[in-house]
Parts: sequence; structure tokens; C-alpha cells
Amino acid sequence: MTIPEQLESIVDSRYKEEEPLSKHVNFRIGGPAKHFVEVRSIDELKAVLDIASKEELNFFVFGGGSNMLVSDEGFDGIAIKIGMRSYEIRGKEVRAESGVLSSALARATANHSLKGLSWMITLPGTIGGAVRGNAGCFGSETKDSLTSVEVLRNGKVKKLERHQIEFGYRDSMFKHNKDIILAASFELKEGDIDDLKAELDDQLMRRKKSQPFDAGSAGCMFKNTAVTDEDLQRLAQKLDIPTEMSSNRQISVGWLIDQLDLKGKAIGDAQVSDVHGNFLVNKGSATADNIVQLIALIKTRARDEYGILLEEEVQYVGF
Ligand code: EPU
Repeated sequence: MTIPEQLESIVDSRYKEEEPLSKHVNFRIGGPAKHFVEVRSIDELKAVLDIASKEELNFFVFGGGSNMLVSDEGFDGIAIKIGMRSYEIRGKEVRAESGVLSSALARATANHSLKGLSWMITLPGTIGGAVRGNAGCFGSETKDSLTSVEVLRNGKVKKLERHQIEFGYRDSMFKHNKDIILAASFELKEGDIDDLKAELDDQLMRRKKSQPFDAGSAGCMFKNTAVTDEDLQRLAQKLDIPTEMSSNRQISVGWLIDQLDLKGKAIGDAQVSDVHGNFLVNKGSATADNIVQLIALIKTRARDEYGILLEEEVQYVGF
């Protein structure tokens, strides 16, 4: 059987050849995947991985595509979209498969009078992506109420407790190993349903006010930067650093890009958002190359003018 025939025999019409990845990522940018599958079970996932191994094909696994930049050439291998989307709520315990949308879980848990995940209403991606990047917003992070994660490791399902996961700021061990996240469990607190619904609205409103919520983007492009006292002294000669940033020893890169007067700066249809400096937005037909050029420009200016080395939060695919 050919590779398309083999993949089709597993996922049927959820297989696509030369599928434009721009259709699957929030940036709405990127060339085609030679092979694309959406898997709806662990067995399907395993079978696809077996084919990748047997046929010596590269693969990558993704969920909501909310934090990805795909090259204009696309991906020469199998793009595996996680389509396992069920969740269970038992008492205060919640277990969600990795393909569940974070915002859907925020709403579902609030409807069950459970407190702890309301902030996820603002996240564009899936639970798997949120765990991988320890996504966060307004003072909360994915790790906060998480208890365990189930992964596929070397072909076997393994359960990892929270303390085994090595979470950091926008980081987890899953960014550095080959585990595929299958599901995550959370322990929540009892809350009042009306308060929780008001919280959902409030969080959404805050995010819509401060970030380009509906634009094609990958969320914040760069991680905020930790700084030392010496860095702060040096920066203070050029910049009026907000007290919150100096006391946390962390510079918000959106603010820094604003100080560089780069908001609105465009290369082709890629633009530094007018609303928030750490968001690069696709105004319509931006290419990955446009975005890469804009990233390079921002990094060069931040380094030359303030001696700050910026690190991307986005995941590059096909570069
Ligand atoms: N600011 C500016 N100009 C800008 C952007 C921000 O002056 O263009 C100022 C704001 O007025 C505020 C400060 O910078 O005083 C911090 O801004 P904000 O509250 O928007 O937070 P942030 O540090 O820029 C972080 C996360 C976001 C998260 C928000 C809210 C990172 C890289 N970003 O942004 O996460 O939603 O806090 O909690 O950690 C993401 O990771 O993709 C993301 C969107």
C-alpha cells in the first residue's frame, strides 16, 4: 500500500494529502503538510506513529495550532492533529483529553460550579498545548491546579504526577522530550456558579481590551525576559521601567517593543499589533518569511538598543 492508502486505512477521510497547514494554525500562515491526519483515539495515534517509523517519515503532533509558525514550504512528513476531545468531571476532579479546547473546559467547569480554570476562557488552543507550554494568563498558569498528565512514551501510556513534569515559565519537560500528551487531570475548588460566569465574562473582556483577540496571531511571540539588578540599572539609564516589572525582575516584552516604537511596524502583511507589542498579526496574506523578518528586526533592535536577547515562545514547524 502507498503511504496515503496506509494512513487512510486508519483515519479514513481524516487523512489529507498536501493539506495547507494555514487552515489549522491561528496565524493562518504556512505551506502544506505532505500528509495530514486527525487522530481520534490512542490506537489511531499509535498506528500512525508506526507508519511514520516504518516509512521513516518525520512527524509532528499538534492540537489547536495557536502557538505555531509554519514555514511557507510547509512540512515534509506527517502532521498529526490530536482530535481526542472528551472530558469527565467527577466531584472536584476533571480529566480532559488533550484535544479538548481550553476555553470549552473553562466554560464546562464553571457550569459545574468548579473554580480554578476560568482563566482558560481566554486561551485559544487545546489542553495538550496549554500543558506543553504551561500557558498562563492574568496570574494563573496551567500547572496551578493540574494533578497529573497521561502521555504516550515509547509506544506506552504513562501517567506522570505533577511534580515529575518540570514546569517552568511557559515551559514543561514536554517541550524538551518526545512524549505525546494524551490527557490532563485537574483538582478544582467549589465555587459559586454566578460568580464563575461573571469571572469568565470579566476575563474575556480584559483580554479583548489588552490583546488583539480575534486577529491571526500566535499569542505572544516572545517570552517575557528575566533581568538581573545590573540589567535593571543599565536599562534605567534609557527607560522609565514600571515598578511592577523592576520588582518582579521581569520585563514585559510587549512593553519593551512599545518603547522601541515598533507597534504598527509592518513587513508585507505581517504587523506588530497596534494593541499589544508582543503580538505579531497577519493582516491577511502575510507569509512565514514576513513574520521571520519581523522577528529578526525586533530581536536586533532589542539587542542593539537595550542589550536584551529575546526568546521566541512560538513553536517553529518546517524550518
Ligand atoms: N504594555 C505596554 N505596551 C504594550 C503591551 C503591554 O505598555 O504594547 C504594558 C501594559 O500596559 C502593562 C505591561 O506592559 O503595564 C504588561 O502587559 P500585559 O498585562 O499585557 O502582560 P504581558 O506581560 O505583556 C503576559 C503574558 C500573556 C498574558 C498576559 C496577561 C507572556 C509572554 N505574556 O503578557 O500571555 O495573556 O500577561 O496575563 O508571558 C502568551 O503567552 O501568549 C500570552 C498572551
